[in-house]
Amino acid sequence: MNVLLIGNGGREHALAWKIAQSPLLEKFFAIPGNPGIKNFAECVGNISISDNAALVNFAKEKNIDLVVVGPEAPLVNGLVDALNAAGIKAFGPKKVAAQIEGSKIFAKCLMKKYGIPTADFGIFYNPEDARNFIRQKGAPIVIKADGLAAGKGVIVAQNLDEALNAVNEMRNFGDAGNKILVEEFMNGEEASVLALTDGEKILPLIAAQDHKRVDDGDKGLNTGGMGAYAPAPIVDEKIAAQVTEKILKPTIAALKAEGITYRGCLYAGLMIQNGEAKVVEFNCRFGDPEIQVVLSLMESDLLDLMNACAEGDLSDKKISWSKESAVCVIMASGGYPKAYKKNLPIDGVIKAESLGAKIFHAGTKIKDGELVTSGGRVLGVTVKAPTLREAVDKVYKCVEVIHFDNAHYRKDIAARAL
Ligand code: AMP
Ligand code: GLY
Repeated sequence: MNVLLIGNGGREHALAWKIAQSPLLEKFFAIPGNPGIKNFAECVGNISISDNAALVNFAKEKNIDLVVVGPEAPLVNGLVDALNAAGIKAFGPKKVAAQIEGSKIFAKCLMKKYGIPTADFGIFYNPEDARNFIRQKGAPIVIKADGLAAGKGVIVAQNLDEALNAVNEMRNFGDAGNKILVEEFMNGEEASVLALTDGEKILPLIAAQDHKRVDDGDKGLNTGGMGAYAPAPIVDEKIAAQVTEKILKPTIAALKAEGITYRGCLYAGLMIQNGEAKVVEFNCRFGDPEIQVVLSLMESDLLDLMNACAEGDLSDKKISWSKESAVCVIMASGGYPKAYKKNLPIDGVIKAESLGAKIFHAGTKIKDGELVTSGGRVLGVTVKAPTLREAVDKVYKCVEVIHFDNAHYRKDIAARAL
C-alpha cells in the first residue's frame, strides 16, 4: 500500500513510526513531515496542507492508496471530501463530520438532542447576552469560542470577574469568537478515549490521560497537552463500557441519524466523577500527545485498521494491546503557550534514545545541518515499561539528558495515577 501522511507534529511522527511497522506498507510520503518522520517517509515540503487540489494531485501522481490526515484543520477544510471525490481513500472524517470538533456549538447541540452526557450550556451571539447568563449562573463557569482555536479558546473562570472578562477575550479568537458558548463547570478527573470507527462499528483504543495545563499541579494556561500516560486507571472496565455504550456508540448513531457517516478517529475528551463520564469535547482526529502513548502500547497493525475505517468495514477487526504502561513527557519551548523563541539547538536526543526512550518530534527542524526548535511543543519523550512507576522513572532520566535553552516540561506527568 502506498501511503501519504498529512501533518508535522508529534502525533504524525508517532503515526509514521507505527505505520512503518506494517507489512502492508510499500511507498511512504509525508506532507510536510518533520525531522523525525524523515526516518520513515519521504517528506515533501512545498505543498500546503490547506491546498486540497495540490494534495489530490500529489496523491494521484504517486499512486497513493491511503491518505492519513493527522491534524484537524485539513479535515475541517474538507480534504477527505476532495480526496474521495477523486477516488482516493483517506483516513479521517469528511468536512460535515469534522464539525464535531470544528464547531463546539454543533457538538453541544448534537449531544443535547441525542441525550449524550455533557455539561449544560448556553449559546450566545452577542457578549451582553453571554454576560447576563453568566451573572445568573455564577462561577466557576467555562467560556468557549466556537471554532478551532488550537486548544486555546477556552477559559475556565473561577470567579465572576474572570468570567465576565473572558467574554471580552473571546474577541481574540476571530470568527471563532463571534459565537460564545458558556458551559456549566464540571468537576472531576479528565481522560481521553479515542476510538476508530467505520461509521457503524466502534473500536475504542486504550484510555489515556493528558495534562492540559502548562505547569505542575495543573496550574497555568491551557496548552495542546504537556504529557500523557496510558492506560489511565480512572477509566476502569465499568467506565470504559459506559463510554462505549453511552457516549461513543450513541454519538456515531446520532451523526448517522443526521445523515452524517463519521469515519476515522473520534476523540472523546471526558470528565469523570462519581463513576460517571461526561463529554468535555469531541475531536475529529487522534489526540496529541495521547496517541504517542497509545501507539506505544498497540500491538495490532495500525495501517490495516485505518485502511478498514477508510473502506467502511471494521467488522472483522480487533486490537491487541501490550500489558505494559507508557508515559510521554512533552518538552516545550520556554514561554509556550504564549510567545517563545525558535531556532534553539537541541542536544541529547540520540543519548535519550539509547537510554530506551522513543523521541517523537513535534516542533523541530533541521537548520544548517543541526536539529533546532521550531514550535511550542518541541519533543514528546516517550517510554514504555512493565509498570507505570518504571515508565515514569525512566522517562524523566531520558528527559534530563536532552537540552535546549529555556526548555520547559512538567515534572508530575502521571503523578496522579501513582
Ligand atoms: P476543550 O477545548 O473544550 O477540551 O477545553 C479545554 C480544557 O478546558 C478541558 O480539557 C478542560 O480541562 C477544561 N474544560 C472545558 N470545559 C469544561 C467544563 N465544562 N468544566 C470543567 N472544565 C472544562
Ligand atoms: N491533547 C489534546 C488534544 O489532542 O486535543
